[in-house]
Amino acid sequence: MCGIVGYTGPREAYPIVLKGLKRLEYRGYDSSGVALLNAGLKVYKKKGKVADLEEHLIGKDLHSNTGIGHTRWATHGEPSDRNAHPHISPTGKLAMIHNGIIENYALIKKELISKGYSFSSDTDTEVLLFFIEDIQINNHCSLEEAVRIALKRVVGAYCILLIDQNDPETIIAARKGSPLVIGIGKGEHFLASDASPIIEYTKEVVYVNDYELAIVRPDELILKNLGNEKVTPYITKLDMELAAIEKGGYDHFMIKEIHEQPSTIQDCLRGRIDAQAGTITMAGVEQNIDKLTNAKRIIMVACGTSWHAGLVAEYIIEELCRIPVEVEYASEFRYRNPIIQEGDVIIAISQSGETADTIVALENAKEKGAFIFGVVNAVGSSIARLSHAGAYTHAGPEIGVASTKAFTGQLTVLTMVALKIAKAKETITNEKYLTLLQELEAVPEKVAVILQQAEQIKSIATLFDKAGDALFLGRGYNFPVALEGALKLKEISYIHAEGYPAAEMKHGPIALVTETLPVVFIATKDSYHEKIVSNMQEIKARKGIVISIITEGDAISPTLSNATFSIPAADEIIAPMLSVIPLQLLSYYVGIAKGFDVDKPRNLAKSVTVE
Ligand code: F6R
Repeated sequence: MCGIVGYTGPREAYPIVLKGLKRLEYRGYDSSGVALLNAGLKVYKKKGKVADLEEHLIGKDLHSNTGIGHTRWATHGEPSDRNAHPHISPTGKLAMIHNGIIENYALIKKELISKGYSFSSDTDTEVLLFFIEDIQINNHCSLEEAVRIALKRVVGAYCILLIDQNDPETIIAARKGSPLVIGIGKGEHFLASDASPIIEYTKEVVYVNDYELAIVRPDELILKNLGNEKVTPYITKLDMELAAIEKGGYDHFMIKEIHEQPSTIQDCLRGRIDAQAGTITMAGVEQNIDKLTNAKRIIMVACGTSWHAGLVAEYIIEELCRIPVEVEYASEFRYRNPIIQEGDVIIAISQSGETADTIVALENAKEKGAFIFGVVNAVGSSIARLSHAGAYTHAGPEIGVASTKAFTGQLTVLTMVALKIAKAKETITNEKYLTLLQELEAVPEKVAVILQQAEQIKSIATLFDKAGDALFLGRGYNFPVALEGALKLKEISYIHAEGYPAAEMKHGPIALVTETLPVVFIATKDSYHEKIVSNMQEIKARKGIVISIITEGDAISPTLSNATFSIPAADEIIAPMLSVIPLQLLSYYVGIAKGFDVDKPRNLAKSVTVE
């Protein structure tokens, strides 16, 4: 939520900041702005997408070697020019951008108003900036010191970048809860919410930690904690290529990322699985195998699509490892004083590794002594660093706001983790273990086969032309896939959709069935197949539009369906990694047919760094 970029060095700052904002636009896209230092401070901002800002700035004097930029996902105050960042301090000397929420801003604002300040926006950011300048003036201290004092009073989450017209080569940055990466170039520094704006200039980066403050100049990076003690920057090498964050000939990131899945799943399996040798190598699991095999309970903590991956994993782990599993929405878990006992293992699942609710839920659980295993996509992200151990999904940067390849990466990792625990606990037969390893190895090729038939989904998408609602039904391992299919359709096409266990349909949702209601069955051949075919019959009898995702060779389901899409046969444990692909394509093509911006759906942002 909200993307921030900064640059200081010998190059022109504006083009670097603008390009960075375009890369970070997935984090928020209701307004954007830049602040540039060059013989004074210039601030430009505009409601709308980054392209609107770019157009607005044509012909303006943008020369500067130090600048910051922001793309916003509104929290306090409607999307508008005046609420857009950067904000300017009362003296006009400082500009600041912010990603996060200052929870006690109202109290600070009241204090400032009583001192005679008046505000030109509705944002919490402007309050923090005024507060910082007020401290600086009253305490006669440096900006760095004023930031430190102010942040000690702040409750909430922030990543802030500040520039000062009296110090034109310096950017002051600080974070708590919202991400910040600093790229180290030769005589220059780049700052951003993630590495995507930095990757084409340098691969050496520092991930700033919570409660750290950075003083960044072209040839100097000083990191300090809020106690003013120096912290040694830990330099990491980025393992990411520029091509991974570009569209590579596709119309949208979403469709590119859907089509990348054969290779992202392969990347996730590579070096880990060897079906012939019957081995899975995962250091994070091996080093903690006792904790995992002796777990009395595994609690999955996640949000959205990642939560759906946790639900699939619940079925897999309970089946293979015979360990009770609970799947928790991070936002509920963090607030309800959950019971965490010795021997509990938390598996945190997150694409971005920056989801605020998941982070706080983990912090709480960690404090209570839980062992945290992270299943994360974004390398070096907060959740990855917060976890005691973990396994990356290696899906590469996911830029389309709707999660696609991250989900199949999560399923791949979670299945491997389950297999390793089951093998160690001897709750799986050797035969089943080897079969599942072979099945896992075959997934990339099977996904490629599904994607070769992507065009078929375009005609299925026409069945949603008049739909205001849709149902997605699945049983067993495919029930969470039904939830995921419904979420994808909602996000991308704005059609109201619900996912249900197919048998639950009779307990209420069947009342919705009419001739215009599309009902998508995830009905691959598994132990529940006959039952789901009966459910299809029930919808057909009520004249609903039946769309079924089936296993190749299924002769019955097509006779009950208005449209079918076949996928290769797979063990039911592996099936969700295949059955979700046509649903991702379906939401994409329905969204495209409706003319929506599928990469940046209404009101959403990729990385939910506010609660
Ligand atoms: C749905 C989607 C969201 C995320 C959720 C969690 O397409 O992208 O529901 O899955 O916000 O995000 P992460 O996985 O980054 O913690």
